Amino acid sequence: MPIRYEELEAKALEALPHTLVDYVAGGCGNERTQDANVSAFDRLGIVPRMFRASRERDLSIELFGMRLPTPLFMSPIGVIGLCAQDGHGDVATAKAASRTGVPMVASTLTVDPLEDVAAHFGATPGFFQLYTPTDRDLAESFVRRAEIAGYKAIVVTLDTWVTGWRPRDLRSGHFPQLRGHCLENYFSDERFRSMLLKPPQDDLQAATLQWAKIFGCPLTWDDLPWLRSLTKLPLLVKGICHPEDARRAIDGGVDGIYCSNHGGRQANGGIAAIDMLPAVVKAAGKTPVLFDSGVRTGVDVIKALALGATAVGIGRPYAYGLALDGVEGIVHVLRCLLAEADLFMAINGFPTRADLQPEIVQRIAG
Ligand SMILES: Cc1cc2nc3c(=O)[nH]c(=O)nc-3n(C[C@H](O)[C@H](O)[C@H](O)COP(=O)(O)O)c2cc1C
Repeated sequence: MPIRYEELEAKALEALPHTLVDYVAGGCGNERTQDANVSAFDRLGIVPRMFRASRERDLSIELFGMRLPTPLFMSPIGVIGLCAQDGHGDVATAKAASRTGVPMVASTLTVDPLEDVAAHFGATPGFFQLYTPTDRDLAESFVRRAEIAGYKAIVVTLDTWVTGWRPRDLRSGHFPQLRGHCLENYFSDERFRSMLLKPPQDDLQAATLQWAKIFGCPLTWDDLPWLRSLTKLPLLVKGICHPEDARRAIDGGVDGIYCSNHGGRQANGGIAAIDMLPAVVKAAGKTPVLFDSGVRTGVDVIKALALGATAVGIGRPYAYGLALDGVEGIVHVLRCLLAEADLFMAINGFPTRADLQPEIVQRIAG
């Protein structure tokens, strides 16, 4: 297994079926936002401190009353199921979560139903990411199922009620969901099945078309009270990048903000997600802010924490680990990130999370 991200990515893209490469590696438009997400971390530097050596470091965090051994989580990746060589990548991710204590945020778009995924979390908490369908009863059914299956929080993704302009997918014509892949949460749902004339397995095309009709609801602020009413579990909203949106969502009762630009896959606005994080953190006050988009190294994790993220989401890197070596591959990727972060904290004199504050980060000119 490669240690450096660049080698991991190159090797995984060779290993993945060509039908998936564009979907996983590609982004929106000319992909400048996707690239900026990564390169923006290189413009942030950290000033080391000496005479603060500590043999023990503590990377643990507190989130919604849970003590987590690391500040990482695995961001929701629809089609992660297909990235595994055995076609059950959601279950593999859940097993890796169990092994590492790094929570998985399970996407709505899974190969295996959310209940089967949750069965492998072990003692690690799992979160369910909701793509809000136009049918409110279906949304409610997903949330109810997630609660019963033991998920510990609901993450509502706001930036993907319609798919962004993705030239690579348009060129390849390969959009997995439109081929009926990763729709098991829908196909196993009584409410969704009631919308079909025949069971999905008897008419996959009709079921897939029905999915396409109901997949994304263009949510507005008027929908927030309804979303809030769906669950007593911690509710997070994913895709928040503007401080005013963070404030308004918190006023509307959400428990967590998830600052992300979807890894540059949805809208090609040009600003790296990490550059939007500090303002969101400031606006969020005491409310936890989860962050992802562009994190590739353990030092990136430290920079995001120092800029105020409560927890840091890993996206494509774990998909590539999975593609190469299943559960072991994900565990390897997470352990590399954590080892680098831990050594960085050790050598630079920041033994605990509390030592990682905005003032240790300096913007590098040019
Ligand atoms: C192939 C792929 C599928 C994704 N599917 C979802 C999804 O189902 N739900 C969601 O909220 N975000 C999804 N995302 C976005 C991730 O949760 C995360 O925001 C993004 O991967 C972070 O960017 P990075 O991978 O460049 O670090 C997906 C990302 C990728 C790469």
